[in-house]
Amino acid sequence: MNSVFNLPGTVEWKDGELFFLDQTLLPLEVVSEKQETAAQVWDSIKRLKVRGAPAIGIAGAYGLAVGMRDKQNLSPEDFLRELAACAEYLNSSRPTAVNLSWALNRVVSKVRTCGISDSRELYRLLTAEAELIHTEDRAICDGIGEHGAELIKDGAGVLTHCNAGALATSGIGTATAPMYTAHAKGRSFRVFSDETRPLLQGARLTSWELQRAGLDVTLICDNMAASVMAGGDIDLVIVGTDRVAANGDVANKIGTLGVAVLAKHFGIPFYVACPSSTVDLTTPCGADIEIEEREAAEVTSFGARRTAPENIKVRNPAFDVTPAELVTGIITEKGIIRAPYQEALVRMFGK
Ligand code: MRU
Repeated sequence: MNSVFNLPGTVEWKDGELFFLDQTLLPLEVVSEKQETAAQVWDSIKRLKVRGAPAIGIAGAYGLAVGMRDKQNLSPEDFLRELAACAEYLNSSRPTAVNLSWALNRVVSKVRTCGISDSRELYRLLTAEAELIHTEDRAICDGIGEHGAELIKDGAGVLTHCNAGALATSGIGTATAPMYTAHAKGRSFRVFSDETRPLLQGARLTSWELQRAGLDVTLICDNMAASVMAGGDIDLVIVGTDRVAANGDVANKIGTLGVAVLAKHFGIPFYVACPSSTVDLTTPCGADIEIEEREAAEVTSFGARRTAPENIKVRNPAFDVTPAELVTGIITEKGIIRAPYQEALVRMFGK
């Protein structure tokens, strides 16, 4: 159960079975779908049934448990070989959010370095590590909420883009965590949610979960952000992220860069909520982040309806990179980081 929207959790592991809340059906239908195979998990991640950086990390970790369930009779050597192959396969589902490879690597290296030589025990360890990643994420969201809530003053207007909410994590979200925490502390403020074309995560997911939780949320089309800012309704932007590079450049949902440029123009602080699992110190800067390119059909249609001519040329990058100099601060579970980011990120998250 998710405590924010009081429905089945984004990812649930019950009695050795894996379930994803199918986010492609929200807000019209609430369906929790059982995941039977690693191929089904791969497909669910690819098609955004489960989505959002922390959630796909958790989903991938449990995907290993699903994929390795019937491999427990193998020799430990073969078990480890199959585990590495399964991790590589799951990791190929989406490239931009570092949480996926982070979680898969964490589980694989835990199992590989444990020194146990019984495949059933290795499987138990694998599952326990996935559960640990799942529960840790909840506490991380709470930490981001505590640190970020101080930024939201009474009467403020907060703009967010895409969904970095409870639906994207196992807790109260990342970008939404300061909002939920400020709300719980009794602060009164308004949230503006960009609809987030082409897949409408802001309209379908963010506005849905904030509204369910009783926050004051207003949905706007992406192209309205400038005029809402110009009208003085926005005091603060908070977005999530799929990967923060070592220099502080931030990959997030396509359109985030435009919001950051607008925020700079209007003198509005632009914050990024980032769990430690999304920091990638091995990627030097934003230009090194692989940006997922998705199907043209997402752009040439609106829902099921075609809205563009046949054979039109289309670009559909799912993410963009906001340079560190446009970021006012990065809200992490350990505190808010400010420029220069390179040093601050190493100090906080370097080994
Ligand atoms: O394509 P999506 O819906 O997975 O993109 C999600 C985002 O861009 C989120 O802002 C990001 O993953 C952070 S979720 C806490």
